[in-house]
Amino acid sequence: MSVSTASSINTIREMEITGKRVFMRLDFNVPLSGPDAEGEWHIEDDTRIQEALPTIKYAIEKGAKLILSSHLGRPDGERKRELSLEPVANRLAVLLGQDVTLTDDCIGEGIELMASGLQNGQILLLENLRFYAEEEANDPSFAVKLARLGQVYITDAFGTCHRKHASTYGVPTILTNRGIGFLIEKELKFLDPLLHNPDRPFYTILGGAKVTDKIKTISALIRKIDGLVIGGAMAHAFWIATGQTLPQGAKQPKPEDVDAARSILRDAKKNEIPLLLPVDTNQGFDIGSKTIKAFSDFLIKAKTVFWNGPLGKFEQQEYSKGTFEIARMLADISAVKVVGGGDTVSAIKASGVAEKFNHLSTGGGAVLEYLEGRGLPGIEILKMTTRERQTTPRPL
Ligand code: 3PG
Repeated sequence: MSVSTASSINTIREMEITGKRVFMRLDFNVPLSGPDAEGEWHIEDDTRIQEALPTIKYAIEKGAKLILSSHLGRPDGERKRELSLEPVANRLAVLLGQDVTLTDDCIGEGIELMASGLQNGQILLLENLRFYAEEEANDPSFAVKLARLGQVYITDAFGTCHRKHASTYGVPTILTNRGIGFLIEKELKFLDPLLHNPDRPFYTILGGAKVTDKIKTISALIRKIDGLVIGGAMAHAFWIATGQTLPQGAKQPKPEDVDAARSILRDAKKNEIPLLLPVDTNQGFDIGSKTIKAFSDFLIKAKTVFWNGPLGKFEQQEYSKGTFEIARMLADISAVKVVGGGDTVSAIKASGVAEKFNHLSTGGGAVLEYLEGRGLPGIEILKMTTRERQTTPRPL
């Protein structure tokens, strides 16, 4: 597979980073639990940290001075103790076997001094970028303050590339010596062929709760795929849209979800795409055995599968069968299998066959937007030519 989308983008391999201050944007937005009796918060799943390690380790080996940055949760511009990146700094230090200094802020003179005092191979982790509302607003002067910390910009925050924020868009507008790390390179390598030249038939499985969240992706995908399989609570909206009654206990979908389902059904018909809905359920919280068989008989022909959204409440053992059996069935077929979304990745891991899938994406919303084919701001900015950059309004 080629990385056609990334071909006009520098990867960290092509960049001169030895002895340079590298501002690295990562997606350390990991699920936390807590607080415990000592008031500490704990990382429940460190996949995103693990996936960032190859790029961080490479930069350390090359003797870069690393200024790592990320958001965590949605603090909406307020400093919130429970959304500090402290647990991330601790986990990183253990995984890397070296000190990771968490700064108490992400901008300001003190932080600039700390950044300029770094020795080759040393690491600072900036405190949560979203403690400033200016981050999500892509505020130009905030971007300037962040950009002052580095000489080179590297992003490996695939999960946040759909956000046009100061650290994902504003900073690389200023630090034009910029590129991607190994995680984004890997994500594009697997996602690009889905957009441009998938092996056919290409089937998509969608689950989860809300149809409206995914309608744009589904409308875009429907022109590219050969079949759509719908499960999870999302199916309820499709049942109502097709005049069926909901199983007992099933949650009533919102009217806008039913409207979205109607529009998808129309699109599928227009494009002559088979759209499979569950034909039975396990108490309304999982697909039933007839559905597992029908979905399996259909999906077995696939040469490419993209899966987003569990098919039931898989976290509860009694409702995990549908999702796990479909995962195990896919594990045995010879097809390119790509999974996106935190819940879906957790489900595939829990099914025990994760290693049989070609790619488990670290992106949730980012994968869906990427598959809509309209480009992600955090990646598009890296492709701009010098001329385009000159005409892009620069922060003052
Ligand atoms: C994610 O978890 O999908 C990314 O970290 C982006 O987070 P956001 O949806 O809060 O922007």
